[in-house]
Formats: sequence, structure tokens, C-alpha cells
Amino acid sequence: MFPFFSSSLSSFFFFSFSLLLFFRPCFPARPSPGSLTNRATVLTVDEINATWHQFEKLLDVNKGSHVSGLSELKKYFNSFGYLAIPNTNFSDTFDDRFESAVIQYQSKLGLPVTGKLDINTVSQIMLPRCGMSDTHVFHTTRHFAYFPGEPRWNRPSPMNLSYAFSTTHMIRYLGPSEIRAVFERAFTRWAAAIPVTFYETDDYGSADITIGFYSRDHGDGQPFDGVLGVLAHAFSPESGRFHLDAAERWAVDFGTEKSKVAVDLESVATHEIGHVLGLGHSSVKEAVMYPSYIPRTKKVDLKIDDVEGVQALYGSNPNFRHHQCIYRWNQDYKTTPMTLLPLDMGSLNWFLGLQLPKISTLASAIVLANPEQ
Ligand SMILES: *[C@@H]1O[C@H](CO)[C@@H](O)[C@H](O)[C@H]1NC(C)=O
Ligand SMILES: *[C@@H]1O[C@H](CO)[C@@H](O)[C@H](O)[C@H]1NC(C)=O
Ligand SMILES: *[C@@H]1O[C@H](CO)[C@@H](O)[C@H](O)[C@H]1NC(C)=O
Repeated sequence: MFPFFSSSLSSFFFFSFSLLLFFRPCFPARPSPGSLTNRATVLTVDEINATWHQFEKLLDVNKGSHVSGLSELKKYFNSFGYLAIPNTNFSDTFDDRFESAVIQYQSKLGLPVTGKLDINTVSQIMLPRCGMSDTHVFHTTRHFAYFPGEPRWNRPSPMNLSYAFSTTHMIRYLGPSEIRAVFERAFTRWAAAIPVTFYETDDYGSADITIGFYSRDHGDGQPFDGVLGVLAHAFSPESGRFHLDAAERWAVDFGTEKSKVAVDLESVATHEIGHVLGLGHSSVKEAVMYPSYIPRTKKVDLKIDDVEGVQALYGSNPNFRHHQCIYRWNQDYKTTPMTLLPLDMGSLNWFLGLQLPKISTLASAIVLANPEQ
């Protein structure tokens, strides 16, 4: 069953790749010197060569094996807090330490704990995600988490935090008013749960929370990595630095934004505000604070886990209606694609854009027609 799935995955991949190659001439390049933000309007094969897609070849690699590219996965685990061997060269060997890292990763991300590079694990690893480490945890259960020392904003009550957008590091294909509206909604959701309000200011220099879109190395020691992979990161209180990867195709409306690698700005904004407030990553898949994200999906409503985590730091907003959150949670739980399939097989298909029935059917037809299958 796994080999079949694996070979059909490769075919899907190949198919998507060919499709993009085929359609490439339809998207004429519009180079705009000096503006890295406009380059995302050109949708090419780069989409499918997205960050971390190379990990697909590590599927079903066994303990004891030596496979080229495993060291890259070790670096990945290292950067998200699962393999603490700083400043050394990682070997390509699947050793005991690597197996422990896999086990730790699987349990933190709420996957079946097998210690193997199975389809669930490799699919999850390939999904784009937040750049913050997962293991700065206070709680070790499947639950919300905080940064070490549980930092939070300490301001006299009523707490009213300001946020500002960078004037130099923005994206141009979305209007400033659209971006403002997205962030206002995202901040309002957290403000509904805790006795903290947020307001936008033009004074970037004095704002508590500073928001901007950056590419690659941008001076904070946490370089971004191009399309997908790491989507954004934000620093713990009371830093307020909030950075989004300018290489992503940020979307406010999937009706008008057709890119298969489009990332919902509001979902990522809501997640990163959680970090700005002091929350770490949750192991609860439905939670906004879960680290990974499936392109072209929206997850903006706080779940019980997010609310409990942030209220334990700041207390509850007296007007917060808990029952609404519970209702929404149940509702989302039933409709979230990731939770429909118990083994998470859906994630990768969604990631590859294969949720489109036509492409999926066509890809299957190609698999069947291929004599090698
Ligand atoms: C994908 O990206 C890697 C690293 O940037 C590059 O070496 C490789 O040739 C690319 N592959 C394709 C198919 O574009
Ligand atoms: C890492 O590998 C490079 C190239 O193989 C080598 O020059 C360097 O000394 C190694 N570093 C460590 C810490 O082993
Ligand atoms: C927060 O502060 C801003 C700027 O001083 C002010 O305009 C806004 O009304 C304040 N909000 C609340 C809820 O106090």
C-alpha cells in the first residue's frame, strides 16, 4: 500500500510539474527591478520546487540507512528544536539521535508515533509552517505552550498595544487597506478573548508591534527561505517584531487569488499574533497555534486550546463568550480537511493543489496509463 501511494505521489508530483511547465508561457515574466515583492506575480515551476519538497525522496528511509539529503532533514529538525547539535555537520545517516528526533516531532505534531519516515511524517514535514521552534515548551502535553519563562506584555491595565506596518517592507499586489483590514480582524479575535486592545499607529519607531514582509536574510538571524517552507515568524514578548516571508503568494481572497501556493494572510497573521502575545506552538491540530499550514486553506478562528493558553497569561476578557468558541470548534473540526482523514493522507494532496477534482482525476489516469506502474 505504501509503495503504491509513494509511486502515485511521484506521479502526481511529476504531473503537476509538467502541467506548470506546459502552462509556463501563459504567465509572461514582468520583471520589476528593485521590487522583490512583485516577483510573486510570476507563477512558474518554482512553485513546485518549493522549499522542503525535496524531503519527499526520504519517504520510507529506514533506520541505519545512509541517504543523500538526510542531513538536510537533520538541519530542519535542528532549526525547529528537535535535534540539538549546533555548529556541526550533520551526516546523512539515520542514526539513533535522528530516530529520537522523529519520535519527538511526531508526538509534538500529534502524528502516530512510529519513529519512521512514514507518509504521515514526511507529508507533515513538507508542509509550509511557521518559522518559530516547536520545543520552547512549558507544557509537555498535547496542549498549548509558552516561551521559556512565560514572558507576556506587562503594561498597566487597561492594556492597549500599538502596531505599525513597515513603510519599506510591504507587498504591492495587495492594497494597504486590504492588509490593514486583515490585521485588524486578526488582532480583534485575540482581543475578544483577553483584556487587551490593539490599535494601529503610523509611528513605526515607537509601535509595540512592528509588522513587515522580508526576504531571505533580513538581519535577525532567522533568514526566510523562498516560496513555502517557513512562512513567517514573530518574536516573544515584549519584542513585538512580526515578519512575513515576502516570497510567499499572500492572499486575502482565494476567489481572486488562484495560485496553488497561495497562503492566507489572515490565518498566518492570527497565528503570529499568538506568538507576539507569548504563546508557543500547540500540538492540537485544530488550534490556530499548530505550527503547520496547508496552502489555500483558512484557519482564523481561535479554538479552545488557543483561548485557554492566552487567557492563562492575560486573564479573560469579561465579554468573552466561551460557548461560541466551542460551537465553532466543533463545526470546524467536522469540516477541516486535515481532520477528515485520520492518517493525514489529505495534507499532501492539498499541499500539491490536488484538491481540484479535475487535476486529481487526470493525474490518476496518467498513473494508470503508465506501464511502469
Ligand atoms: C530546485 O531547487 C534546488 C535548490 O534551489 C535546485 O538545485 C534544483 O535544481 C531545483 N530543481 C528544479 C526541478 O527546478
Ligand atoms: C564540516 O564540513 C566541512 C566540509 O566538509 C569542513 O570543512 C568542516 O571542517 C566541517 N566542520 C565540522 C565542525 O566538522
Ligand atoms: C488605545 O490607544 C489609542 C491611542 O491612544 C486610542 O486611540 C484608543 O482609543 C485606545 N483604545 C482603547 C480601547 O483604549
